[in-house]
Amino acid sequence: MNILYIGAGFVGSSSAAVSADSGHQVLVYDVDEQKIEKLGSKNREMIESCLFEEGLSELLIRHKNRIEFTTDYEKVEGFLHTCDAVFMCLPTPEIGETGESDLRYYLKAAETLAEALQKRNNGAQETYVVIVNKSTVPIDMVDTTGEIMKRFHVTNYGIVSNPEFLVEGKAISGSLKPDRVVIGAWSERDFAVMRNVYRRFYDAPSVEYIEVNPKEAAAGKLLANFYLFNKLAVCFDVIGRTCESFDGLHFEHIRKILTSDPRIGSWGLYDSLYAGGSCFIKDARSLSHQLQTVGENAGLVHETHLANKRQLEHFLGRAVKDARIEWGGKRVALLGTSFKRDTNDIRNSPSIDIVHILEEQGVGGIRIYDPAGMDNFKIVFPESSHIQYAAHEFEAVKNADVILIATDWPQFRGLADMIMAEAHNRPLIMDGRRILQHRYNDLQKAGYDIIAVGSPFLKSASVFHS
Ligand SMILES: NC(=O)c1ccc[n+]([C@@H]2O[C@H](COP(=O)([O-])OP(=O)(O)OC[C@H]3O[C@@H](n4cnc5c(N)ncnc54)[C@H](O)[C@@H]3O)[C@@H](O)[C@H]2O)c1
Repeated sequence: MNILYIGAGFVGSSSAAVSADSGHQVLVYDVDEQKIEKLGSKNREMIESCLFEEGLSELLIRHKNRIEFTTDYEKVEGFLHTCDAVFMCLPTPEIGETGESDLRYYLKAAETLAEALQKRNNGAQETYVVIVNKSTVPIDMVDTTGEIMKRFHVTNYGIVSNPEFLVEGKAISGSLKPDRVVIGAWSERDFAVMRNVYRRFYDAPSVEYIEVNPKEAAAGKLLANFYLFNKLAVCFDVIGRTCESFDGLHFEHIRKILTSDPRIGSWGLYDSLYAGGSCFIKDARSLSHQLQTVGENAGLVHETHLANKRQLEHFLGRAVKDARIEWGGKRVALLGTSFKRDTNDIRNSPSIDIVHILEEQGVGGIRIYDPAGMDNFKIVFPESSHIQYAAHEFEAVKNADVILIATDWPQFRGLADMIMAEAHNRPLIMDGRRILQHRYNDLQKAGYDIIAVGSPFLKSASVFHS
């Protein structure tokens, strides 16, 4: 099949790479010239400097004859003469803090597409084309897409909703072996096109191939993300907080009791300072906005969002409340800028808010390290007299007054020995991921105070016994 992708972000690129791997001929269009140059470079380092996703560069290089990246819309117009499906992979961020989705990127791309579709086959529009909404969009988006196509007199087309469930950091492995493929369509003809797109997954015993209508598909995506976000919020705001508030409760022991019940399950039962990323927050906000727009109560959805926000404020606040430090003048080592491990994506990363809050508090300086996300972070926070970037975590923690761990990179699990060797002035350790929980006792014995999500204040043993 001939498949066009509009938008070469995490979703567009990963999905396009998997389409090429499935044997389709793929064209990827984006307005971002730098991104297109890097992704189309056939060079691993260049690709990874743009999108750090395990397995993505291998697929793009292996299938270089089946996948092309372009910023040239004339090429897109040429491709549309024989194109079977167009995947819309545009950003749909939140407008300010209203919850409403900002559909500007989508609408602009859809209108440009409609204009080009109307001209295909010299205006005869003989080729049947399916427009696939892969972006996470409002529930009734299928109607909006249809109105645009009608407005531009496009004929011979279908509109499908095919929400993306990829997990950043595992986008490629997850897309090659998905749990489910969800297709929302109104007609058998469109279902048939999509079965050809996803031939390798249709009928595969390990994949749940779900065919519903387009509104159900769009709603299913929003509700699935809300459910997962709510699970994280419950872990932070109820389970973690309970463990922080009563001496003698070990988060990992409580976790074991809960996760041994298959009805509860294990996903999301890790305490953390914040659930960031580009999806959970904005999708929950979008759901609550849509419910309120139709006059319904969105209290629980809204409270989930607030619980997440509260978690970060609470965690940082414990430095003053528990350890009684004043942030003014302090040198802070900030470990982790990506919103989670295995990605260079910093969207809604807790570290962004942390830097803003610490700057407001007048910290003396912040030295930052992340194995993948620093280039993106530097765009938001360029190097300056008080913001510096370290070459590795050892350099970051040297001479720090506070060590703050914000991302769960596996390499940070080995930090305890290095802290004990390098950070002799006994900095306060703030573990926002419980990544050092296996060494809290050793660190306390060595004279370090620890604030960890999911634990009461862990005072250094020397101070404790004095
Ligand atoms: N990132 C995820 O983990 C994830 C998972 C599931 C769903 N989604 C959803 O998928 C959608 C895309 O997310 P993403 O993370 O890939 O976003 P992204 O910001 O990484 O990528 C979007 C791309 O669209 C491009 N773009 C903007 N306007 C354009 C236009 N007019 N024409 C062509 N390209 C244009 C941008 O330059 C950018 O490269 C969003 O709706 C998101 O909610 C994301």
